[in-house]
Amino acid sequence: MSFIVAIDGPAGTGKGTVTEILSKKMKLVNIDTGATYRCVTLAMINANVALNEIDKIKEILNNIRIELRNENGGQAVILNGEVVTEKIRSKEVTSLVSQVSSIKEVRLAMAGLQRKMAEGKNVIMEGRDIGTYVFPNADVKIYLDANVEERAKRRFKQNQEKGIDMTYSEILESIKKRDENDKNKEIGALKVASDAIVIDTTYMTIPEVVKTIQEIVQKKKKEVDLQEKIYRVRPDTKWHRIQRKIIKTICSAIYHVVYRVKVTGKVPDQGSYIICANHVSYLDAAGVVIVNKRKVSFVAKEDLFYNPFLNWFLHIFDIIPIKRNMQDMEAMKRCLKMLKSGDLLGIFPEGTRKGLEKNVKLKNGAAYMAIKTGVPVIPCGIKGTFKPFSRVNINFGDPIDFSKYKGQDKEKIDEATQIIMDNIIMLTNKEI
Ligand code: DC
Repeated sequence: MSFIVAIDGPAGTGKGTVTEILSKKMKLVNIDTGATYRCVTLAMINANVALNEIDKIKEILNNIRIELRNENGGQAVILNGEVVTEKIRSKEVTSLVSQVSSIKEVRLAMAGLQRKMAEGKNVIMEGRDIGTYVFPNADVKIYLDANVEERAKRRFKQNQEKGIDMTYSEILESIKKRDENDKNKEIGALKVASDAIVIDTTYMTIPEVVKTIQEIVQKKKKEVDLQEKIYRVRPDTKWHRIQRKIIKTICSAIYHVVYRVKVTGKVPDQGSYIICANHVSYLDAAGVVIVNKRKVSFVAKEDLFYNPFLNWFLHIFDIIPIKRNMQDMEAMKRCLKMLKSGDLLGIFPEGTRKGLEKNVKLKNGAAYMAIKTGVPVIPCGIKGTFKPFSRVNINFGDPIDFSKYKGQDKEKIDEATQIIMDNIIMLTNKEI
């Protein structure tokens, strides 16, 4: 999986400098996408190809090899085997590159190359359209801006340091022209992505910009790492099963000491079923898991996994994390996979604890899956206060078959949900 930081913005906003510092500080691979367009421009100049010679440009694109190599603390650019780090910053290339980068074929080829360069890596990419076109789902999108005079001043100073001979007014004009061109491209025009964080660097020093972005990236990386930990599917290895068995035995012993558990009904020894229960306490799911010889994987809200111990514990029991208040397709896919493999899936149609008391709208995921897969639903009524040494009744009902409810008709799904809940309520009040 890649982690992508996109830094977009017009020329002279400090993208290159900031990106280089951040890549070193945060161990992110630095991909200077402007350099890829500069390489194409240089290749065209070398081959004497004009802007309108599309066939020749296509041929160049078909054979071009561009490499960005981190060397001696900087980035070396290699074009078809030749180091061109300095050459691509020449006046000639700079004055032509914006027009070259407006050519549709060039943009498509370079966007493809840039995506490939980022594959499976944690990268920081600077350019014009990274957050809008190349990686519209980038993890962090920053748009750097600054007024045009300040940008020209910076570029002038940078050029002087590199020995590039251009006057301040030449640079100012060139930047204005490039801004205009960059903003009006057919594909990959320079614009602010709707979810980008805009930083105006006109009155900021480089370290200030770096610090601001670093904090944003660190926060996001933490979130992404946590999500990865929560959603990574662990294979059910032998060690996993041994741990589950040991923990289940211990928890079961404690559970039976703390509660007087009474079970009626039974879950068949084989085959897929969706166990649907009422939800009164977190301990009711534990009860259903403990009293079943077979593994029951419940669906539980993502927030529970934020705690590292609970994250480990819930994964041992193959609990499926779900994002609430949205259609979590990932969770749905995992549930369906589980049912296809002949396992038991546990769901609380109330979607939250004491949902019936709170009068919440029932969640119809269980009924949807039962109809879609033909897997029967086992209703389960749980009664208990879960106060220490109190009684807990767990009543499993007969499987309900919804296979005759063909199609994805919402009314039918709602009707099936109500049938499931009515059965659960009946079982909750069952006299033993
Ligand atoms: O960042 P730079 O000055 O090296 O970029 C050179 C040119 O390439 C600039 O005019 C804009 C263009 N470019 C682009 O269109 N898309 C990118 N992702 C990066 C640069």
